[in-house]
Amino acid sequence: MILEYQKRCQARVDASLEPLFQAPHAELERLYQAMRYSVMNGGKRVRPLLVYAACEALEGNLGQADGAACAVELIHAYSLVHDDLPAMDDDDLRRGQPTTHKAFDEASAILAGDALQSLAFGVLSTHRSNPQDAEIRLQMIELLSQAAGPAGMVGGQAIDLGSVGLQLDQQALEIMHRHKTGALIEASVRLGALASGNRNSTAHQALQQYARAIGLAFQVQDDILDVESDTATLGKTQGKDEANHKPTYPALLGLDAAKRYALELRDQALQALQPFGDSAEPLRKLARYIVERRS
Ligand code: IPE
Ligand code: IPE
Ligand code: MG
Ligand code: MG
Ligand code: MG
Repeated sequence: MILEYQKRCQARVDASLEPLFQAPHAELERLYQAMRYSVMNGGKRVRPLLVYAACEALEGNLGQADGAACAVELIHAYSLVHDDLPAMDDDDLRRGQPTTHKAFDEASAILAGDALQSLAFGVLSTHRSNPQDAEIRLQMIELLSQAAGPAGMVGGQAIDLGSVGLQLDQQALEIMHRHKTGALIEASVRLGALASGNRNSTAHQALQQYARAIGLAFQVQDDILDVESDTATLGKTQGKDEANHKPTYPALLGLDAAKRYALELRDQALQALQPFGDSAEPLRKLARYIVERRS
């Protein structure tokens, strides 16, 4: 990938995440261990990277985006823990390790997910890096709550589970993907943009267009990889979508057309960045990475 940038941002977000997993009482040790296990386990950190890159695109410093980067990864990690539960996708492997409910137990995984979600909003409200302006902070909290909740990721997961075994048309599939994955990706970009302190609304709108395109592209590529990658590379069991009878882009359009669609979305994202100069280079690299990645 854009290795240097990724490493720098991963180190930043991991430094903000790590202190969150100190149990305040011995009795809570197991819960905090399950939370830590679910987050500090080698995720690609694409959402934090997008937060940082969007902040930089608007001439902000990386340090302004730490809280938002941390918050989106906490929400994402919680969504994965719950997504893997037997009642949902029933997966045993995540990021190359046993899923949280396998390493601990189901109740611990449910609670760890719940806890990570609450923590995310705590971090977004109080992290020292957040904008001083309370109105902007409130806007950021509102944005993440919309993206994570029933009108965003949770809504998408509900559509996903309600669609098992059904043949969705392309419009319905797009709605599902935009909710379950696109919403949090879009929020990552918008949070980074807000954290920058830049108030140029044209620039914010351009970034939103970028985010909308890569948000969908990300899940299209996830569907493609489920078909053509392998379990070792993915760090999650390959072929689960077909086994679970999930509607996906490759299932609907065929693999080649799904790949062409991912590239088209990448091009839309790059197009939206045209007005920006070098400051948007990390976002451009991320758009390419999202559709070229193998895991
Ligand atoms: C996987 O997300 C789940 C989706 C929303 C498609 P990632 O591919 O970002 O997973 P990690 O965080 O790197 O494990
Ligand atoms: C997950 O979509 C979206 C989430 C909100 C977690 P998938 O179910 O396709 O994600 P993976 O393939 O298990 O990572
Ligand atoms: Mg799922
Ligand atoms: Mg899944
Ligand atoms: Mg998937």
